[in-house]
Amino acid sequence: MSLQDNDSQTLSHDDDDVLTLREPDDWHVHLRDGPMLAFAADYTARQFARAIVMPNLVPPVTTVAAAEAYRTRILDALPENRRFTPLMTAYLTDEIDREEIAKGFRNGVFTACKLYPAGATTHSAAGVTSVRKIWPVLERLQTIGMPLLVHGEVVSPDIDIFDREAVFLEKVLTPVLAAFPGLKVVLEHITTEDSVGFVEAAGSNLAATITAHHLRVDRSAMFEGGLRPHAYCLPVAKRRRHKEALRKAATSGHPRFFLGTDSAPHQKHEKESACGCAGIFSAPTALESYAQTFAEEGALGRLEAFASEFGPRFYGLPLNKGTVTLRREPQDVPELMGDDNVHVVPFHASETLAWRFADRTDQTPDDDRLR
Ligand code: DOR
Ligand code: ZN
Repeated sequence: MSLQDNDSQTLSHDDDDVLTLREPDDWHVHLRDGPMLAFAADYTARQFARAIVMPNLVPPVTTVAAAEAYRTRILDALPENRRFTPLMTAYLTDEIDREEIAKGFRNGVFTACKLYPAGATTHSAAGVTSVRKIWPVLERLQTIGMPLLVHGEVVSPDIDIFDREAVFLEKVLTPVLAAFPGLKVVLEHITTEDSVGFVEAAGSNLAATITAHHLRVDRSAMFEGGLRPHAYCLPVAKRRRHKEALRKAATSGHPRFFLGTDSAPHQKHEKESACGCAGIFSAPTALESYAQTFAEEGALGRLEAFASEFGPRFYGLPLNKGTVTLRREPQDVPELMGDDNVHVVPFHASETLAWRFADRTDQTPDDDRLR
């Protein structure tokens, strides 16, 4: 029990080189559709028991029927016996039908709604043009207790791309939280110290997810020795001091910061293009990447709460019952992944990670047996 961490209470481990955690969840992921879904889905499902699945397909997932059909396609893409629950989300548009959303939530098909400001990111053209247009929808979400997940960037071309998240806090999120104090909101994939401070200062209804890549990539990484499209995602990575603030927040043990990879695979040629797509495919080594960051911060003992406890508590869902095990063992990440149909450059391509995903069981974690 000599891990170099600040708090090893929630961590069960046989020795320093084995890390056993309650099964984690990914509270923000892009599983895609068609050949990319077939390739990518199991990378998430093998590590995580549940995942909040983003609805930015073309066309977007706006109805209960579309979400049910997509959920079926996801499950069909996985190996038999994989224990994985996709948690579906509804893509908000200016015209979205409140009744449809409420029905989906009541039936257990939709877990949350996703707000993409129109034009903010990949496949967001059908998103919301002004948050005022969905005021009645937000009112309904507040009443039924359905979480709102937000891509927190304004899209005005007048606003510098590195400032779009901070401006969103002031111009959009502050009025929404003031008007709907009972609305549960998750500020997705935060990238700034402003957002960290905003969430810390907010009440218990606001939480944030933090990606594995924003804990490791700052804006200089996009220009290291040349243009690096595989480090490009949205919200775009910011200055180093913002990355440091995110690392502190994620490893702090604060219950309103939790894991959401935003793993977002794109074909290699669509990233390496004159107008390359935003997105980093982190799913294959998601837990290993977070573990590396937490280890570097001397906080491995806090990884389990970040990955497996704070998310379900915020969403009001039960904690998972099984466990996953990582081993401290070098792992070479391939420079390219894929199959006959897709070619994807993963996060950490050609790097060697210190940890390796080793095992997953449906056995109850030790601390549960003691309860
Ligand atoms: O980098 C990103 N990729 N950010 C998003 O918000 C969307 C995602 C995607 O769908 O590719
Ligand atoms: Zn996303």
